[in-house]
Amino acid sequence: MTENSLTHSPAAERNRIPIGEVLGRWLARDARVLEIGSGTGQHAAWFHELMPGLTWQTTDLPENLEAIRTRLKAEAPALPAPLALDVMHSGDWPEGPWDAVYTANTLHIMPWDHTPALLRAAGERVAAGGLLVIYGPFRDGEAFDAESNRRFDEQLRQRNPDMGLRDILKVRRMAEDSGWTAEAEIAMPANNRLLIFRKSE
Ligand SMILES: C[S@@+](CC[C@H](N)C(=O)[O-])C[C@H]1O[C@@H](n2cnc3c(N)ncnc32)[C@H](O)[C@@H]1O
Repeated sequence: MTENSLTHSPAAERNRIPIGEVLGRWLARDARVLEIGSGTGQHAAWFHELMPGLTWQTTDLPENLEAIRTRLKAEAPALPAPLALDVMHSGDWPEGPWDAVYTANTLHIMPWDHTPALLRAAGERVAAGGLLVIYGPFRDGEAFDAESNRRFDEQLRQRNPDMGLRDILKVRRMAEDSGWTAEAEIAMPANNRLLIFRKSE
């Protein structure tokens, strides 16, 4: 299997490296991690290479599973097969308990009502003291980190009015309503941010 025959995201190829560096500082080497919206599976395969002791469970909507399955077979055959998981279907969420839930570039793609559902379900599945890690571009109220983020938000809304960059303050408030405590907000390359929440003990 060559890289060319795999579904490929150039952005994931770039951001997996700085994200992996942060995860390496926050996750125990044997952590059990549930990923939401795994996309191409590139993040899972890379984090497995960096931290082979992690149990990394990929998930996505059913139509994306084949791409992830193919990626893992080629690059990370030790990882479990991807699971079908729509954040709105509580029965899709594997029980765990998980030490962390990880999701990248999903909140601006999913309709806004999916965010509280994700935060709530993650809070129910993660062990006390565990983490929720969210990566992506955000806005502060109506302010954007960069003109490129404002344009990206506009393009998303034109494509689908339910999409768009989320207000970080609202995400944080919703997370707190679901029992998460904000631990860190890390500025990442290309005007992205990595949010880390901890589940109350
Ligand atoms: C922009 S992609 C990000 C993929 C990958 N995490 C990355 O950073 O490259 C957004 C992902 O969210 C997934 N997604 C969209 N709606 C979803 C839902 N309701 N439940 C679970 N995943 C969803 C999509 O299928 C897609 O894989």
